[in-house]
Amino acid sequence: MTDKPAVLVIGHLPQRDLDAMARRFTVLEYFSAADKPAFLAKHGASVRFVSTRGETGINAEQLAALPNLEIVACYAVGTDMVDLAACRARKIPVTNTAGVLTDEVADMALALLLSAFRQIPAGDAWVRGGDWAAKGSMALQRRMYGKRLGIVGLGAIGRAVAKRAEGFAMPIAYSGRSKQDIPYAYYPDPLAMAPHVDALVVCAAGGPATRNLVSAAVIAALPKGAILVNVARGTVVEEAAVIAALRSGQLGAAGLDVFLNEPAIDPVFAGFPNVVLQPHAASATYETRGAMGDLMLANMEAWLDGRPLLTPVA
Ligand code: GLV
Repeated sequence: MTDKPAVLVIGHLPQRDLDAMARRFTVLEYFSAADKPAFLAKHGASVRFVSTRGETGINAEQLAALPNLEIVACYAVGTDMVDLAACRARKIPVTNTAGVLTDEVADMALALLLSAFRQIPAGDAWVRGGDWAAKGSMALQRRMYGKRLGIVGLGAIGRAVAKRAEGFAMPIAYSGRSKQDIPYAYYPDPLAMAPHVDALVVCAAGGPATRNLVSAAVIAALPKGAILVNVARGTVVEEAAVIAALRSGQLGAAGLDVFLNEPAIDPVFAGFPNVVLQPHAASATYETRGAMGDLMLANMEAWLDGRPLLTPVA
């Protein structure tokens, strides 16, 4: 027997983080259990801590199976898959990894933007597949610097995207709940902003409040051939409308890191040569994932030691 508190690990974690956790916790690898209900029934009462990922979160049914749960620690900034209302009702704090992944996600947004404007993967395929030698130069692509950028959701990640885009001389607009003390053009919603931008980068948090925020109407209001980048959540954009707009040419290109139904995404995306796809990997570098694992564990240890949490979710 051990007197280390039990942590239910709902979302798969790198071994380095499981090893670090095991120094002070009894690690229960729910993510690898074949029969998850049986695993919960067996261990549920012993669980005081939950570790989870953005994609996995924790739902009401799982929470109900954990009567002694004290805290949910997320290995993500987004907690839209956590039943926050149920946690609040039981006074269970939730922590995330805000701060340490901001710049990494912003880097990915810029990489997707550049890839979409300049069609970098298509150029790579042109060289790799022999078209260059067989057919000559590939088609011209569009310039990115100086183009008008609209950011949906100007939180920490949105601001980091804007800072990078300034380096490309892109006039910046943003939409969000409130106007900020920042010299970018403000629009209260993406629909009002859409006609004034050449590219839209979606940075808003997921969850019910932002579901389909980038709607079919928003996409239709963009100039024809505009570019869409999403590093937020698949739920924030109306995915069927994105697909229709890529088919019609209303969207000229897209860079997508997030989707509905990850990882079994709509296979239609793979057929668009002008869409750059990423497997929800915006924060996925050694450096940032290491920092995320450290911060998640630091929150768990703070709770265990009776210290203030580092990054509680409001
Ligand atoms: C990843 O999507 C995160 O929320 O950190």
